Formats: sequence, structure tokens, C-alpha cells
Amino acid sequence: MIRSPRVAVFADAAAVARSLARRVADAIRAKPTLVLGLPTGRTPLALYAELSRLHEAGEIDFSRVTTFNLDEFYGIPSDHPGSYRSFMRTHFFGRVNIDPARTHLLDGSAADAAAECERYERAIEDAGGIALQILGIGTNGHIGFNEPAPELEARTHRVTLKPETRRSNAALFGGREEDVPREALSMGMGTILQARAVVLLATGAPKAACVERVVNGPITTALPASFLQLHPDAVLMLDEPAAARLTPNS
Ligand code: PGA
Repeated sequence: MIRSPRVAVFADAAAVARSLARRVADAIRAKPTLVLGLPTGRTPLALYAELSRLHEAGEIDFSRVTTFNLDEFYGIPSDHPGSYRSFMRTHFFGRVNIDPARTHLLDGSAADAAAECERYERAIEDAGGIALQILGIGTNGHIGFNEPAPELEARTHRVTLKPETRRSNAALFGGREEDVPREALSMGMGTILQARAVVLLATGAPKAACVERVVNGPITTALPASFLQLHPDAVLMLDEPAAARLTPNS
């Protein structure tokens, strides 16, 4: 039986980042106009550092690559230091030769959130869809800002952030949780699952319990990442601590 998502386990987080960076480099070499879906968070930092290193070594040309980020805070301008646009500029876009016009994030200062979400869906479609979507995962199983809930939104939408999500983003706002925006805009589960290939990165022991449920548990809106079981080309790239609760055959 072919199980989805597939699981790939590496000795440590650096090895995960090297392997995925290699896959991204190969994909860009095969298709210089590749469309990538990108996450923020602590987990992808090693990947962005490795991609920047490969670029500096002359191994990746990002000049014709297009990117779409998963989500953005709502109610702050893109140039706010706490925005995900600023995060991406600091950790990745500012370190490689990507064309800023091809880096797409939701606009957290849009007056009409619904129109902005629709614009984003159309932009993804106009770019030909996302070829490779990279995801992080929250310890509660969220992907993007799709939090566990009785129902999940299929398309890009406006969300109210959970207190724990605002807490885990406080570092971007000088450690002040009260300064983290209360709302965000996020790709929906359908938007994510429409990517032709999906890679979910999870490193560290705190992710082990939810990784085990993503692989072996039922598909449930209580664990948004469990929907990856329905994707024909999804892989979890894990370090050993994050994979600790998986049995060799699970
Ligand atoms: P992290 O966040 O990479 O900082 O653990 C992941 C997420 O919440 O999606």
C-alpha cells in the first residue's frame, strides 16, 4: 500500500534543511520559473540559510522563481518589522537574487480583507499554481494559520488568531504578546492541498506527538495537517526527535 504522506527521517535539523534545499535547487534547475509556496516560523530558518548559501555558491539562480507565502498578519503594513514580509526579507529574499515583484505575500494592510484573499487566490492561479508547497506545523497540528476547529476554510481567508499562536509569535513583536495582531490572512486547506507537491518540515521533540497523529491518526479538522493524508505527493521531512513516536513501519 502506498501511504500518504511519505516520511523521510534525518539525523538532525541541519540534514533536513540540506536535503530539502537540494530538492529545491534541482527543481529550479529543471524549471527556472518554478512556483514555490513558503512558510515562516523557526523551523524553515535552516532551510532559508542553506538556500542562501547555495545561491552564494552559484548553485541556485532565483531570478525567475515565483513565491507565495502561506499567511500574513492582518492589520499591520507589510513594512512593519513584525510582518511576515519583513521576516522573509531578512531571512531569505534579501539574501538571494529573487525578483521582489515575484515574491507574493498577502497584504495585511488591505482595507477589504475578502477582496485581498480573492486577489491572492487569483494570483496563484495566474502563476500556474504552486508546484512545491513547503509547510511548517504547529504543535497543535496547524498549517499556515489553519487552526484546529470544527470546520476548516477551503480558500484563502481572514482568521482570528488563538492566544497560543499570538504567544508563539511574540518574538517578532519585541516579546510583547499584546502587540501581536489579533487577526491574520491565510491560505485555506484547499489552497494548500492544490499544490502539486507538498513538503512538511518538522524538527524537534515538541513536534513528535502531532507528527505521529498526522501519519497514523484519522483525518480530522482537529488536526489540520492530517489532511495531507489525502494529497498524492506529500512528504514529512523530520529529524529524529520529531520522528521519535513513529514505528519503523508507520
Ligand atoms: P515553528 O512554527 O516553525 O516556529 O515551530 C511552525 C508553525 O507554527 O507553523
